[in-house]
Amino acid sequence: MIDAQLKSRLLKGAPLLWVNPDQIPVLMAEVPVRPAQVKDAEQNWRDLAPLLQQCFPELQGPNGAISSDLIEVAALAQVMGNDQGRHFVKGDHALPVAGSIKARGGIYEVFLYGLSLARSLGLIKADDTPIALAHPEVKAAFANYTVAVGSTGNLGLSVGIAARALGFQAVVHMSSDAKAWKVERLKHHGVDVVQHDADYGNAVAAARDQADADPTIYFVDDERSELLFFGYSAAAAELRDQLDAQGIIVDAQHPLFLYLPCGIGGAPGGVTYGLKQVFGDNAHCFFVEPAQSPCALVQLAGGLEKQINVYDIGLTNKTEADGMAVAEISWFIAQVMHPLLSGVYTVADDDLFRWLALAHDQAGLQLEPSAAACLGGPAAAMDTAEGQGYLTQNGLTHHMTQATHVMWATGGSFVPDEEFQGFLAKGNQLLSQR
Ligand SMILES: Cc1ncc(COP(=O)(O)O)c(C=O)c1O
Repeated sequence: MIDAQLKSRLLKGAPLLWVNPDQIPVLMAEVPVRPAQVKDAEQNWRDLAPLLQQCFPELQGPNGAISSDLIEVAALAQVMGNDQGRHFVKGDHALPVAGSIKARGGIYEVFLYGLSLARSLGLIKADDTPIALAHPEVKAAFANYTVAVGSTGNLGLSVGIAARALGFQAVVHMSSDAKAWKVERLKHHGVDVVQHDADYGNAVAAARDQADADPTIYFVDDERSELLFFGYSAAAAELRDQLDAQGIIVDAQHPLFLYLPCGIGGAPGGVTYGLKQVFGDNAHCFFVEPAQSPCALVQLAGGLEKQINVYDIGLTNKTEADGMAVAEISWFIAQVMHPLLSGVYTVADDDLFRWLALAHDQAGLQLEPSAAACLGGPAAAMDTAEGQGYLTQNGLTHHMTQATHVMWATGGSFVPDEEFQGFLAKGNQLLSQR
């Protein structure tokens, strides 16, 4: 049951930070996944790299990796009133191929499905490397199979583009929150788009039902998929290497704070699980959700006895942050995050536009509203009574001048210019009213 006082604060719609009372040291946490699976995912990504490079000409780098920059944003942090420690944006808004964090999950799952299907159909040999999927005969055979997914938009882009690149048919079931430009972009890639006049959960259920009835349809299940989860988890090792390259230490005296936008929970959950394997208890991971769609918060605060959604407590699930317009967190992710997550903060839609404009102005970033949510993290952790309580409880107060804050910017570089100019104008107008 969700505490009455917390419920009443949530219903007021004002931003807040909830600290997870059930977080325990990572080595004591019993969760339904294993650390070795993160290592496997890192290896799978390395094995896939030559094929990815062949499929996507934009992967011109030396290793064919789907990776993003770690961008220091001191001026932006200053303008936002954050002055303790160093501040970075993890630039998944500019991830190649799909322009969002969803590239890490969707491409991973579709390509691994392609490999296992090709092996089971005898199209390639068990010991062939993934590049064998680029053979025209394999692609021709894949045309008889369909990859389907339900999405608020960005997962659809990632799965749809990946599926078409391997020669599959692709169907994306979009929720009513999906933005028109995402639908257009998918159609341009030859993806069938089914638009539902219902929320994300309903779009996923419709896609799952259709796939269940047809053995030639493979369903990427955003609510349940472990493949998506581990695809995301490999991002932690990438971040470790980037921090190492900059000589940034992470230990008990130099804590690492991470702020991750959350919808169904797969992307931030997978990344958090990976981070906990790499940095242990020195990684302090916070999810961020819209004030009207705090599905992770209500589930984790309400306890794991039964599933709770945001409608149950009287919220609307209406937000401009389309990627986070999700009423009920994945049950699988809730189990994994329950002992590991530090907390969840909520954001008001108007702040998303303000921060989006500041990020453009101060750091030249092109973010979509969902991604801008990460920028409120340092203030939530440092400037709220709950955040101060968290720092005290964890003995961190005196170490925060040596902290590293990483705000995970989850999408935006594919937003069409006209649309982005509209976001900017709105943000700037809101900023000028202050
Ligand atoms: C830009 C953006 N940020 C964050 C998320 C949240 O990811 P998840 O739904 O896996 O929690 C999404 C999901 O689509 C997204 O598009």
